[in-house]
Amino acid sequence: MKTIRFTGYDTLSDFMAAEIATAIKNKPSLTLCMASGHTPALTAALLAKKLLDENIDYSTITFLGLDEWIGMPPENEGSCHYFFKTKLFEPLQLQPSQCFLFNSLAADMESECTKMDAVISERGGIDLMVVGIGMNGHIGFNEPGTSFATLSHIATLDETTTSVGQKYFKEKTALSKGVTIGLGHLLHAKKCFLIANGNKKAGVIKQTVEGPVTENFPASILQQHSNGFVLVDEEAASLLTTN
Ligand code: F6R
Repeated sequence: MKTIRFTGYDTLSDFMAAEIATAIKNKPSLTLCMASGHTPALTAALLAKKLLDENIDYSTITFLGLDEWIGMPPENEGSCHYFFKTKLFEPLQLQPSQCFLFNSLAADMESECTKMDAVISERGGIDLMVVGIGMNGHIGFNEPGTSFATLSHIATLDETTTSVGQKYFKEKTALSKGVTIGLGHLLHAKKCFLIANGNKKAGVIKQTVEGPVTENFPASILQQHSNGFVLVDEEAASLLTTN
């Protein structure tokens, strides 16, 4: 794992978008898995702009949405689905056949997980993963205590996730379960970036980079990834003692 520091959110997002665009240029059949949320919002916007401005062919990539709130209608602005639709699928006119998101309203959520695992396996694993980090160290909805070997699964969200998650919604929203691609997929992804910005992420970044590797702090799995990168702005890096 390598930590890369940036002066700010803009430069970090610019770098991340450029990395993804280059990966698509180098492998047109790239399997890309991305988180939604506040951190990757600018990366997604810059990526869409870059792909269009530079006329990069993304027609054969596979896009995987990392996670979703169970029971959340896709048209809800706080859903992961809404994020991907508005920031990537619509601007880029991605074909439905190349986009895979968990159906948050499915009656059989286990089968959503099986389907996602099959898509990943058929493509020989995830090529490039871009994830954020929660205030409890979660990645996707891999909450503290989740096995590093887990594939796609249903998660009971912990108190930090349900309270911090309110920031995505216009009104107070009941959140209790999520569905997510698992840490086992992350560990086997060919390349993985964790991105974080702002003072509020300084503590969890310190734990990610300098703390013990433990399933009680999911993001510490990055230390075990041979091609894992932690991208941080100055504020998120402010508690790090190592370079
Ligand atoms: C969202 C996701 C979450 C977020 C994390 C950080 O799809 O996977 O794990 O990445 O909660 O969220 P932000 O970026 O809003 O701070």
